[in-house]
Amino acid sequence: MTTLLLGQTLAFTDDPFRADPVGSVTHHTHGAVAVDAGRITAVGPAETVRAAYPQAQIIDHGDNLILPGFIDAHVHYPQTAMIASWGKRLIDWLNTYTFPEEARFRDPAYAARTADTYLDLALDHGTTSMCSFATVHPVSVEAIFEAAAPRGMAVWAGKTCMDRNAPDKLRDTAQSAYDDSKALAAKWHGQGRASYVITPRFAPTSTPEQLSALGALWSELPDCLMQTHLSEQADEIEWVRDLFPEARDYLDVYETHGLLGARGLYGHSIHLTDREIARLTDVGAAVIHCPTSNTFIGSGLFDMGLARTIRTGLATDTGGGSNFSMLRTMAAAYEIAQLRGQALHPAQLLYLATEGSARALHATDIGRLIAGATADLVVLDLASTPVIAQRHAQADTLWEAVFPTIMMGDDRAVAQTYVAGRAML
Ligand code: GUN
Ligand code: ZN
Repeated sequence: MTTLLLGQTLAFTDDPFRADPVGSVTHHTHGAVAVDAGRITAVGPAETVRAAYPQAQIIDHGDNLILPGFIDAHVHYPQTAMIASWGKRLIDWLNTYTFPEEARFRDPAYAARTADTYLDLALDHGTTSMCSFATVHPVSVEAIFEAAAPRGMAVWAGKTCMDRNAPDKLRDTAQSAYDDSKALAAKWHGQGRASYVITPRFAPTSTPEQLSALGALWSELPDCLMQTHLSEQADEIEWVRDLFPEARDYLDVYETHGLLGARGLYGHSIHLTDREIARLTDVGAAVIHCPTSNTFIGSGLFDMGLARTIRTGLATDTGGGSNFSMLRTMAAAYEIAQLRGQALHPAQLLYLATEGSARALHATDIGRLIAGATADLVVLDLASTPVIAQRHAQADTLWEAVFPTIMMGDDRAVAQTYVAGRAML
C-alpha cells in the first residue's frame, strides 16, 4: 500500500559546500513523496507522482516543506535532565553538573525513563536519528536501544569509556571497557536499526592502556563507528598536552592508540592545527560541529571551511548544547560562521542537518529524499509563529521562505515527523 505525502519537497543533488548551493537542490513547490513499506519509492512533482500511484492514500501537507528527518550527529542523551546548567566552562561543567547526573544511570529505571523522554523530545523537534554517547554503565546503552526499537528509529550509541580523571563510581578499566563494549556491540550492532559506536569519552579520561584497548577493539569491529571529543576548549588541549607529552598534538593521541580512521567521529574539532586538519582529511574522518554547545560552554568558533574537504556533521551536543532543536542548531551554526566572516547559505545549513550528518555516520539509507531511502522525514511549517509568518509572507524565493524558520523556528515548526513512514506526532 503506497502513501503519498504532498507538500513542498527539497532534495539535494550535490554537496552545497563543494558546488553552488542554489544549484545543489531540486525543489518542487507542489511535490510528492511516495512511501511504501517504510521506504521512499518516488519523489517528484505531485502531478507526476499521483499519476504513477493512482490508488495511493493521500496525506496532504499543503505548503509545508518535506525534508529528510534531522540527524543529530553528536548528543549525550543522559544529559537531558541537566541541559542549561549555569556558569561553567568545560572541565568544571563536567565535574559540577555532568558527572553527578551521569552517575544516576547505574539505575536501569532512571536510564529507561530518560531514554524515553529524550527520544520523544527528539521526535518533537523533527530529529529522526542520532549518534549518542551513553554513560559508563552498559545499562545506559541498553536503555537507549530498547527505547529506539519500538519507535523504529535508527540510533547509534555506545558506552562512554573512562578509567581516570572521573569520580570512582563513573570509572571503568581498560579491560572492562573493552569487554563491555565488545559484548554490547555483539548484542546490538545491526539489531534492527541499532548501531554500536565505540566511545572513549576523550583523551583526558582514558589511560593510554584504555585507549589502546579500544583501538584494538575497533580493529576487530571495523564496521563500527568510533566517537569521541577533539580540541573543544583551550584548557582541555593543554591538559592533553600534559597527559600525553610525547604526542605531536591532540589528534595524534588518538592516532597512536588506533583511534583515527574513516569511521571516526571527532566532536567539536574547533582548535585544530594544520597537521590535524591534513590527517583528518587524509583518512576521511568526520568532524562534528556542535554550535550551541560551543557558545554555551564558551569553547570557540568552528571553521566551516572544513566542510569543503572533511565530512562534517551537525549536532546539538545536548546537554553541553543548549537545545534539542536542529533548527536552533542551524541558526547557531549560521551565527558562528558570521563571526568568522563566513556566510552559510540556507541550503548548506539544511544539508549539514540531514545528508551531511548522514555522511558523517556513513549512513546511506537516511538523510536523503530519494527513492530507496528509508522514509524518515520531517515536515516543516514555514510560517509557524506570527514573527516567522510575517517574514515568510515577504519571501520571493525558496531560500527567503525557508531562512526565517531556520533562524527562528523550533518544535512549533515541526508539523509532523515520520519514522520509516510512520507518523510519530
Ligand atoms: N568532553 C568530554 N565529555 C564531554 C561532554 O560530555 N560534553 C562536551 N561538550 N564535551 C565533553
Ligand atoms: Zn559531546
